[in-house]
Amino acid sequence: MSAFKTLDDLGDVTGKVALVRVDLNLPMQDAVVTDDTRIRAAAPTVLELAEKGAKVLLLAHFGRPKGERVSTQSLSMVVGAVEKVLGKEVMFVPEIAGDVVKQAVGILRAGDIAILENTRFWKGEEKNDPELVKAIAANADFYVNDAFSAAHRAHATTEGLAHVLPAYAGRSMQAELEALDKALGKPEKPVAAVVGGAKVSSKLDVLKHLVTQVDHLIIGGGMANTFLAAKGVDVGKSLCEHDLTGTANEILDTADTAGCTVHLPYEVVVSKEFAANPPSLRACNVHEVAADEMILDVGPLAVEALSDVLKTCRTLVWNGPLGAFETVPFDAATVALAKTAAALTREGSLVSVAGGGDTVAALNHAGVAGDFSYISTAGGAFLEWMEGKELPGVAALSV
Ligand code: 3PG
Repeated sequence: MSAFKTLDDLGDVTGKVALVRVDLNLPMQDAVVTDDTRIRAAAPTVLELAEKGAKVLLLAHFGRPKGERVSTQSLSMVVGAVEKVLGKEVMFVPEIAGDVVKQAVGILRAGDIAILENTRFWKGEEKNDPELVKAIAANADFYVNDAFSAAHRAHATTEGLAHVLPAYAGRSMQAELEALDKALGKPEKPVAAVVGGAKVSSKLDVLKHLVTQVDHLIIGGGMANTFLAAKGVDVGKSLCEHDLTGTANEILDTADTAGCTVHLPYEVVVSKEFAANPPSLRACNVHEVAADEMILDVGPLAVEALSDVLKTCRTLVWNGPLGAFETVPFDAATVALAKTAAALTREGSLVSVAGGGDTVAALNHAGVAGDFSYISTAGGAFLEWMEGKELPGVAALSV
């Protein structure tokens, strides 16, 4: 990990204008924020800057309005939720650059906070247009990026601004980068990765990279079926990308050469229908799946074996559930292995980092999210990090 500046490197910022990129791409229903996790993640940085006396201008995108003003995607909708988390009044400014922002800065007192409009209402945001970058920067003294979850985008407010203003990582970005460095940058070995989810196709690059980085790769979810099929196992009616069995074999070969042990389930939970507690539910060896059955979870004996693998490891990176965890009892393997990881983390023998897509929901469901060493709020950015890619928003912060 290259070095970057943090809020500890700021001098006196009283009355100075901070542009703070946060991620307010929040789950919403009927214009109401349904999950404020990302606001809570940004709060320490925003409040610290306000307490230090800066005028804090929050920059964020919401949805994908593609350079048009779309009233249903205005960030004015999140102001109430942000005020609630921060416990402070927040001004809304319907622009991101120009005189309107300049006037707002004139009205704000030291320690005040404003949210600027959805950055993606301007075409130059996604194009990382230098003119837009210059115009946004003109109203500010320094830039803080606290949006790791948007750092895989090389946009004006996630990347461009870092080149034209003194740039710092916010507290949440800092915590994220430090945790990720412990997990894959300079991890304590042996390292295990759990990768689950429905499709191999969505995580090909993740799998290809991980087999060269970790000692144990545990594959679960629908994507394990593709690997099983590649090894000649008849997976019946299971979700399986048969056209990717060749790629799956290549990944297994790379793992072999790199000395990574790939763990595929040898015992599975199957059913003739995908429903909660179906009558045809049973656990069996992978070689005994009938033509009319589908694999929906890793079996209990196989999970015990996987728990034993984790007990030999010092570091764990987790992305994706092991089974169809939203429907009982196909959550059992994910819950059991997550509980083992949580217990090992509590004992201090394992550093556990998880993130991406359904993972946080799965670990919350298992009731263990709080016991992991670090849980990332990022989706796509976490996956790109697991692919070994350099994230432009992070690279731009390096000094
Ligand atoms: C996210 O929600 O994962 C980030 O905010 C990035 O959003 P995007 O995929 O629309 O760029």
